[in-house]
Amino acid sequence: MIWAVVPAAGRGTRFGGEVPKQYLPAAGRPLIAHALEALLAHPRVAGAMVALAADDCLWPGWAELRGKPVLRCVGGGERADSVLAALEALPESAGADALVLVHDAARPNLHAADLERLIAAAEAHADGAILAAPVRDTLKRAGEDARIAATEPRERLWRAFTPQAFRRGALTAALRAAREAGVAVTDEAMAMERAGARPRLVEGREDNLKVTTPADLALAEHLLARR
Ligand code: C5P
Repeated sequence: MIWAVVPAAGRGTRFGGEVPKQYLPAAGRPLIAHALEALLAHPRVAGAMVALAADDCLWPGWAELRGKPVLRCVGGGERADSVLAALEALPESAGADALVLVHDAARPNLHAADLERLIAAAEAHADGAILAAPVRDTLKRAGEDARIAATEPRERLWRAFTPQAFRRGALTAALRAAREAGVAVTDEAMAMERAGARPRLVEGREDNLKVTTPADLALAEHLLARR
């Protein structure tokens, strides 16, 4: 069994504006609708658990999409807290060995072929797998004065995307351990790495973008309108 877990409790403060970015429209629908649809379109995904802010009054109230259940729970102060809350709220039928696909609500352009390859890799590797892409630009480390202090080697550096796919029990334990240690993890793989796992990198499309700025939203609009 596979469940989608969608953290959507962020306030999108980096984007600016009143509306949290997952509710901004692109190609006629909120970003989160595109994210959920892409996950639920996979025949093996049983449903989705969405983590929302406690005072969210913009959630459109879907109980199902594509004929599959869309459940919700209250998220937490950090992304990892929201993911952990969602994992804990999953139905019991999703046991410890169930695969979970954690995907950003603000990442609307996931393609079916990438999802398919991610699921295959996560099933073949006990430590799970994430979509990612190799770094293509030259990397500069800034000094405090915004002048270049060093050029960093980019060999073997990747950018981590979502979805990230792990066994529910292992990911829950890893996120709890990170929280107890007071370590802020910025993605699920980082929690798994702390627990000793070595998740697989699955090269995905570069246009699986996370909307963070108004320029990202314009790009997402363009990409989604062409699909
Ligand atoms: O802010 P950032 O782009 O890293 O957020 C990634 C995803 O995590 C978004 O979908 C956002 O809504 C979610 N999030 C969350 N709970 C938080 C912070 C972010 O569910 N406390």
